[in-house]
Amino acid sequence: MKPLLYLFKRKKAQNFQPVVLVTGCSSGIGLALAKLLYEHTEYRVVVTAREKSLDKVRNYFLDNERFIVRPLDVTSEADRIRLYNEIKKIWGGVDILINNAGVSYRSVVEHMTEKDEELQMATNYFGPMGMIRLALPHMRDTGRGKIINISSVSGMLAMPTMASYSASKYALEGASEALWYETRPFGVTITLVQPGFIHSNSFRNVYHTELSDPTRNWSGPYSDFYKNMTPFVERMMNLSLTTPEKIAKQVVKVMKKENPPLWHPATLDAVLFYYFRRLLPRRVLLPILYWLLPNAKNWSKDYSHRRR
Ligand SMILES: NC(=O)c1ccc[n+]([C@@H]2O[C@H](COP(=O)([O-])OP(=O)(O)OC[C@H]3O[C@@H](n4cnc5c(N)ncnc54)[C@H](OP(=O)(O)O)[C@@H]3O)[C@@H](O)[C@H]2O)c1
Repeated sequence: MKPLLYLFKRKKAQNFQPVVLVTGCSSGIGLALAKLLYEHTEYRVVVTAREKSLDKVRNYFLDNERFIVRPLDVTSEADRIRLYNEIKKIWGGVDILINNAGVSYRSVVEHMTEKDEELQMATNYFGPMGMIRLALPHMRDTGRGKIINISSVSGMLAMPTMASYSASKYALEGASEALWYETRPFGVTITLVQPGFIHSNSFRNVYHTELSDPTRNWSGPYSDFYKNMTPFVERMMNLSLTTPEKIAKQVVKVMKKENPPLWHPATLDAVLFYYFRRLLPRRVLLPILYWLLPNAKNWSKDYSHRRR
């Protein structure tokens, strides 16, 4: 009897064609992942983009019986609910949720406004949390599911001019860690894919605030931060050997693992920082990172009233 049951179970598992939902597929990692999943016929796939980028994504993919392109602005609750209801209607729900959409502000804390902070958090934290809340009931009901949140090295350590971005990824990391416990009894796994620097043009997509905007020619107390951090990040991205396509492949590997880990550092620098952070006390790590920043000890000297 037992072998028969095993065969029956195996057959059922083979017939299972998980429904994958990926957010933010108009460029970078999301687009690379969408292209990869277009070829992976073992999945039913929903790739999404904001209305403004939808035509671009539709130029790459034709809807078919297992692959569809849909609009989604992750910051809009109405959008999230409408999309999820449609998926529920056609395919029953989402089995693998990939929260990839994200934006990154480049600004010192003093130059952020409340509105800027809200948009940063709405995209990188509230949006993914909203998607998770929608997807979880189906995953619990079916006793399986995977949530993959694209985080960042910025969710492990923070750098100047990236405070708000880091805060959003730290928030995502914190909630994901709690979710690891909360989803465990139901057969649902959660993974934080943590890329570091990626060889891509994504730095062109960074958001600036009114005061951090490069077209203002950066002057004042924080100008050295912008003048040094912007080219530094671009340089590191250009030097990186990891492309969005390589990250996409790693995401697919995570999708295929029965028990993926909570943390998946996805680039060489991410692996190094992952261990540095764990092995070195913070009070040692911070001065090392400070020293690695280009000429940081001389930044803002002309504006400093620091008392000795
Ligand atoms: N590039 C890196 O070095 C790096 C490093 C670590 C982590 N990451 C993370 O990796 C993820 C993907 O980034 P990427 O490098 O591929 O950047 P990207 O090329 O700028 O892609 C970001 C995607 O998110 C979408 N998006 C932005 N706001 C959205 C919203 N409100 N609703 C729906 N989609 C939205 C963008 O679509 P639109 O066309 O609509 O703007 C775009 O498709 C992000 O979570 C990012 O934080 C990137």
